[in-house]
Parts: sequence; C-alpha cells; structure tokens
Amino acid sequence: MSDFDYDLLVIGAGPGGYVAAIRGAQLGLKTACVEGRATLGGTCLNVGCIPSKALLHASEYFEAAKNGTMASMGIKVTPELDLDAMQGQRLDSVKGLTAGIEYLFKKNKVEWLKGYATFSDKNSVTVDGKTYRAKNILIATGSSVTPLPGVDVDNEAGIIVDSTGALELAKVPDHLVVIGGGVIGLELGSVWRRLGAKVTVVEYLDQILPGMDGDVRKEANKIFKKQGVEFKLSTKVTGAEVKDGKAVLTLEPAAGGEASTLEADVVLVAIGRKPNTDGLGLDKAGLTTNQRGQIETDHDFSTAVHGIWAIGDVVPGPMLAHKAEDEGIACAENIAGLTGIVNHDVIPSVVYTYPEIAGVGLTEEAAKERGAIKVGKFPMMANSRAKTNHEPDGFVKVIADAETDRVLGVWAIATVAGTMIGQAAQAMEFGATSEDIAYTCHAHPTHSEAIKEAAMAVTGKPIHI
Ligand code: FAD
Ligand code: NAI
Repeated sequence: MSDFDYDLLVIGAGPGGYVAAIRGAQLGLKTACVEGRATLGGTCLNVGCIPSKALLHASEYFEAAKNGTMASMGIKVTPELDLDAMQGQRLDSVKGLTAGIEYLFKKNKVEWLKGYATFSDKNSVTVDGKTYRAKNILIATGSSVTPLPGVDVDNEAGIIVDSTGALELAKVPDHLVVIGGGVIGLELGSVWRRLGAKVTVVEYLDQILPGMDGDVRKEANKIFKKQGVEFKLSTKVTGAEVKDGKAVLTLEPAAGGEASTLEADVVLVAIGRKPNTDGLGLDKAGLTTNQRGQIETDHDFSTAVHGIWAIGDVVPGPMLAHKAEDEGIACAENIAGLTGIVNHDVIPSVVYTYPEIAGVGLTEEAAKERGAIKVGKFPMMANSRAKTNHEPDGFVKVIADAETDRVLGVWAIATVAGTMIGQAAQAMEFGATSEDIAYTCHAHPTHSEAIKEAAMAVTGKPIHI
C-alpha cells in the first residue's frame, strides 16, 4: 500500500489551486486541497476579481443614469443609490461562485482539508494539528496586500483601508485618496467616484499603470482626468495620521523636496501585492524564496525540491487569476505525467474601468527594443458600433514585426476591450501576422472591427479613417 495519503495535495484554493486540484482529480490523482478561508475561491472569488467587478458593473449603471448617458439615449431617470442593496448583490455573487467551487470539489472528489497548512517535511504538511503525506505538494498560496510603512491599514475602522476594506465601505466617502495608480487603485477608485466620491490618486511614478503600453497609459490618464479623477503623479506618501475620523497624509515629490499634506475621508492603499509564504514552513521542505519573496519554478512548475510544485501569485509573473488558472491546469497535467505548458508571452491583462483597458504581448516600447516594428492604430471614435453606443473614447493598436509581420502585441482602450483582447491573444497564440487579422472577417457592427482596422493600419490601409 502507498505510504502517501494523497497523490496530490494542493495548498490554497484560489483560481490556481482549485483549478489544479480539479484537473488533478479529473486525471485520476487522489487529491486534497487545503484552504484556511471559510469559503473556496481564494482572493479572486472572495475579495478580488469577482466582488470588484460586481461593484464596477453596478456603479457603471448608476453613473450612466446620473451623468446623462441614459438621457442622451432617451431614457430619463433620476437614480437613487441604495448602497446596501448594491453591496448585497456583490455578496450574492461571491456566495454563489464560492459555493460553486465547493460543488465542483464534491463532484470531482477533491477533498477540502480546512485550515492552514505548514510543511513538516518535503512530503508532509500539518493542517489543524493533523499531518498528511502526499507524493506531490503544490503551493498555490497566492498573495496579499503590500503594506506601506507609516500608513497603517485598519479595515474595521474604515478610514485607511486596503482593497478588501475598499470593497466593503458602508458609505460613499466625500474624498477618497488612493495611494497607487495601478489596477486596483483605478478600478476601485472608479467605483467610488461613480457613486459620488471625489477621488485623488497619488502615484509614485510619472505615469499611471506601469507595465502597460506608453500610449495606453497616457490616453488612460487623459480619460480618467476627464471623468473627474485628480492625479498627483511623481508623488510619494510618507505617512498618515488619523484624526477626528479623517486621515491626513504626508506627501513628498518622488524626486525629493518639500512635503505637503492631504486630507481624506478614506484612504485606499493599493501599492501592489506580495507572495504568501509566511508561516508555510518552507525551510522544513528545503525550499527558499527569491529576493522578491517568490518561489522560483522551472517551466513545468516544479520547484528546486523534487515533488514540490508552485503556481499563481506565489511564483514570478503577472498576478492574474487567468495566469494562475492556466498554470494550475498545466502543473496538474505535468504531475499526472502529461505535458502541460503555459505560454507566458501571451497572457492578456485587463483593467475593468470605463472604458476598459487591455493588452496582450509586448508594449510598443519593449517591441522596439527587440527590433524593427510596424504599428497600426485605429480610434474607437471611427468604429461604428462604439460611436452608435456613445462610447467614443479609446483606440486599438496592433504592433507587428517589421520583417515577418508577426503580431507582437495588441493594446486596446474600449468599453469592451477585455472581451476584444481574447481574439488578439488567440491570434498571437497561433502565430498570426497583422495580415491574418486584417483578412479575417469580423461581424459588423462590433467593437472588434477596430482590431481588424488597426491590423489593416499596420500596412497603412484602414478603411474608416
Ligand atoms: P489566491 O487567489 O490568493 O489564493 C490563495 C489561497 O491560498 C487563499 O485563499 C489563501 O487563503 C490560501 N492560503 C494561503 N496560505 C495558505 C496555507 N498555508 N494553507 C492553506 N491555505 C492557504 N486578477 C484578474 O485576473 N482579474 C481581475 O479582475 C482581478 N481583480 C482583482 C481585484 C482585487 C481587488 C484583487 C486584490 C486582486 C485581483 N486580481 C484579479 C488578482 C487575482 O485575484 C489573483 O491574481 C489570483 O487570485 C491569484 O490566484 P492564486 O490561486 O495564485 O492565489
Ligand atoms: P499595481 O502594481 O498594479 O500598482 C501599484 C501602483 O502603486 C504602481 O503604479 C506603483 O508605482 C505605485 N506605488 C508603489 N508604491 C507607492 C507609493 N509609496 N506611493 C505611491 N504610489 C506607489 O498594484 P495593485 O493595484 O495594488 O494591484 C495588485 C495586483 O493585483 C496587480 O499586480 C494586478 O495584477 C492584480 N489585480 C488585477 C486586476 C485585473 O486584472 N483587472 C484588478 C486588480 C488587481
């Protein structure tokens, strides 16, 4: 009889871990998944992707009713905010989806071990006082909020909060200051601005959305400013004090200089996330982390210790749910003796603001460093569907290798850019050229025609501009 309780024991039931556990079980591995939260689904389903999108979606309707967008289409309404009900539908989405994972675990015979796991040795973990042995252990412990020294988060008090606290505000703040002009800051800042808050974003760098294409960053900044968001770029927060129910932040120019203060009703700290490895007992398993606290893996997701694997936010790469999921599937397939691969060059990223901002592959800056390129751009203003829908902001940009015409990157700002980027990712996965996209028949009238036109623009031949 096997000396092991399980073929595969997954630590963490986020999109990386739960997907890996299900695939492992589907492939015949006796599988357990350890999760300490009260519900499955990790950061993404509980306090990340899903609840933020529930509020983004609802607040988008509210703003459309409030700012005249609906009136411009002949729908006259005066909206009244019922924040409790809006928060209620957020909680309903989370409840439904997390319960759905529990159902999938039962259906696939994945055992949920409730509690937090600590390694006892390379093949054993202890959960709630009990030790389990497994032939393969997959670390999918995800990430948590990066703290900012001098700015202490207290979600209970609701004045200086992180993303979890910012999802749960009981009332719309008069002034919300967001520290960090990244994805979380812009998404959650958008929610509360739409519901009536004045929003100021303080960003250390000289532009928002680091890592994205330069044109996209500039244009996004312009659009958010037009929507009323105030930006303090090249500025760092060096401290915060809570006084009489308000926060007073100390700001300094990033390059050094005179300090100033900024008062806020609520402060959202959103300066990034860090891998979760504290308390895991990695030393007992013989594992270490790199300088950024991540667990390094090989391309098959195996770590330096035989039988231990790692995926998702706890390993290098973008901290995205779909990246974690794909790594989970590939890793489980490798453990089961198949060949699981993730193409890390083609991982789309989306900011779910209005309009949405999306990209896949290289930025224009990175592509230029690699060699000669051709770029085609098409404004959403010239796309018939976007124009008809009163959604003129944004553009699509296709970046191709000058010699081979192979598509190296696609970037889009458009109301449905997150949906549009899927076709670009698929085209790139198949090694498409800009000509391949330009000669693919796209349904009319759709926002996606802007991708076709941007691809046509690579050779200078778009029709509608
Ligand atoms: P996680 O989802 O973090 O899951 C890890 C799980 O492991 C957690 O449930 C944790 O409790 C558990 N765990 C940790 N240590 C242990 C232990 N020792 N024992 C047992 N269990 C343990 N990404 C997107 O792609 N799209 C989005 O729209 C998006 N929106 C986001 C919005 C917000 C506000 C935030 C915070 C994040 C968002 N993300 C989004 C990022 C996304 O949530 C993460 O990339 C994703 O959840 C990572 O998945 P994971 O499985 O690696 O880890
Ligand atoms: P982020 O890395 O996207 O942005 C953090 C920002 O804070 C950066 O612009 C950085 O320059 C700035 N910053 C850092 N220190 C600062 C300081 N002291 N003062 C002022 N600015 C400072 O991180 P964020 O927004 O916290 O999100 C964390 C992760 O969650 C991201 O990596 C993202 O991948 C993931 N996420 C993804 C979403 C999506 O896919 N739609 C939505 C939300 C989160």
